[in-house]
Amino acid sequence: MRFIDLERGLRRYGTEIKEAVIRVLRSTRYILGPEVETLERKLAAFVGVREAVGVSSGTDALLLILKALDLPPGSLVVTTAFTFVATAEAIRRAGLVPYFVDIDPETFNLSPSAAEAALKRLYGRVRVLLPVSLFGLPADFKALEPLAREYGVILVEDACQSLGAELEGRRSGSFGRAAATSFFPAKPLGGAGDGGMVFTSDSELARRVKILRVHGQSQPYLYAYPGINGRLDEIQAAFLRVRLRYFEEELRLREEVARRYQKLLAPIPQVKTPSLKPGYRSSWAQFTLRVAEREALQRFLEKRGIPTAVYYPRPLHLQPVFEDLGFKEGSLPETERAAQEVLSLPMHPYLTEEEQIQVAEAIKEFYA
Ligand SMILES: Cc1ncc(COP(=O)(O)O)c(C=O)c1O
Repeated sequence: MRFIDLERGLRRYGTEIKEAVIRVLRSTRYILGPEVETLERKLAAFVGVREAVGVSSGTDALLLILKALDLPPGSLVVTTAFTFVATAEAIRRAGLVPYFVDIDPETFNLSPSAAEAALKRLYGRVRVLLPVSLFGLPADFKALEPLAREYGVILVEDACQSLGAELEGRRSGSFGRAAATSFFPAKPLGGAGDGGMVFTSDSELARRVKILRVHGQSQPYLYAYPGINGRLDEIQAAFLRVRLRYFEEELRLREEVARRYQKLLAPIPQVKTPSLKPGYRSSWAQFTLRVAEREALQRFLEKRGIPTAVYYPRPLHLQPVFEDLGFKEGSLPETERAAQEVLSLPMHPYLTEEEQIQVAEAIKEFYA
């Protein structure tokens, strides 16, 4: 059993991908061309925003949004520490300062009340509120949108794990001023390498991101801003266009897999499965449990050929690279507790019921 089985997807659309890749190779146009433009148009429509800008990775999508906002250096960005390192890394590289607040233990996402407390306490110093829609579940935008308005801060979504997710019919990527997603191969819409996209309905912001993505070049060989090489390749875009045709169906298959896990694991009291509040649709990038005796369970499953993963064993506020921010053990109790208890199970659209029964039976056996 694999944690994420990309090969099973390839069995379905491998031939189409081969044709698409050969088409690009023959075209000899390899960076930022018609494939990228078509993917941008299709994904902007999918997400429900006016503009999409294809970039080199999810990390660069975040960096480019934050650079394009052109905020005073050192401005604070309220965000979560229970995320992949790239969220806070991009904030730093944009010359801003992450300010970590705690999570909601039910969803693993940024707690709106913790965010509000920080916005109140640091009023005037915070310029951006940057929630992450973790494991595919949209952050609580019903609370975060009015909060951002009330405190006059810019809302940016890290949607690197949540493309395809929804909250009350609105798609992840469409909340706030802008959003970043990732096409890292393990993501719900994964490419054959690195890639990412910026979503926004702010055309001026999109224009600036496009300039910054090619070294800040505003006209041929005129550099208006300090940019980066943040371009997306044509082969990636062509690959992703094929996968996009199957994406709605794959999202439904992921939902089916999640429902089966919920049913199979419900009788095990030592395991807490993720649940969805009304109005939420997850893209199920991960199926993440809270469990007792995690390390022992993980080893037990590994011996039975069941791969699992811990996202994330050490929250960002306790990482050496962010030590200077002054957070300590105990600063974010819910985040730290989650880091001790989470365990992600194999999750992909083509996981079979037999495989899921095998996972559930092994977990039952462990606790018996
Ligand atoms: C929450 C989050 N933010 C940012 C990133 C960065 O994306 P990428 O790996 O495409 O740079 C990822 C994925 O790796 C992620 O999961």
